[in-house]
Amino acid sequence: MSANTIAINQQMDFTGHASVWVFGYGSLIYKADFPYLQRRPAHIEGWSRRFWQGSHDHRGTPAAPGRVVTIIPEAGAVCHGMAYLITPEVFGHLDYREKNGYLRVAVEMAFDDVEGDAAEGVVYVAREDNEAFLGEASEEEIARHIARSAGPSGPNSDYLTHLALALRELGKHDAHVFAIEQYLVELIASRT
Ligand code: SIN
Repeated sequence: MSANTIAINQQMDFTGHASVWVFGYGSLIYKADFPYLQRRPAHIEGWSRRFWQGSHDHRGTPAAPGRVVTIIPEAGAVCHGMAYLITPEVFGHLDYREKNGYLRVAVEMAFDDVEGDAAEGVVYVAREDNEAFLGEASEEEIARHIARSAGPSGPNSDYLTHLALALRELGKHDAHVFAIEQYLVELIASRT
């Protein structure tokens, strides 16, 4: 599958819908650079967050991709993040921002602020068949990769630390993200 997903994502047409819920689990948690009608903490079931996607356009380059998160299907897993209610025009911006391998996937999200409240919506998923996918590596290796990567949106380490901070602010523990963050802290400390 081509690394640029804009044309494929546009086939999921929401014209005529007043609004659509979008679930964010990575930079979409902490960087809402788009208009939204509502923003609510939420989770999805059956997915786990992993730093397995390559970034050619934000936190790395095609020659030296950074590492950013995608979600991987995993029975019993829960992925916490932030849900946004948007109007369909906002997909133009989101599709461009997530164009490096992410496809819109329909998902059911449960809101964390009102017990039992849920909605259908979409989430951007970078599947393993996209060209930028890097796949599994140890959390220590991922931290080393992040430490040496940077792209047009800034250092890859900022992506990791902003995500870890945002998850703490949500009161959510993510063992994978926090382990990589800890390795990064140790790596930086060992260099000073
Ligand atoms: C997301 O945040 O939901 C998708 C991945 C990213 O943009 O970091």
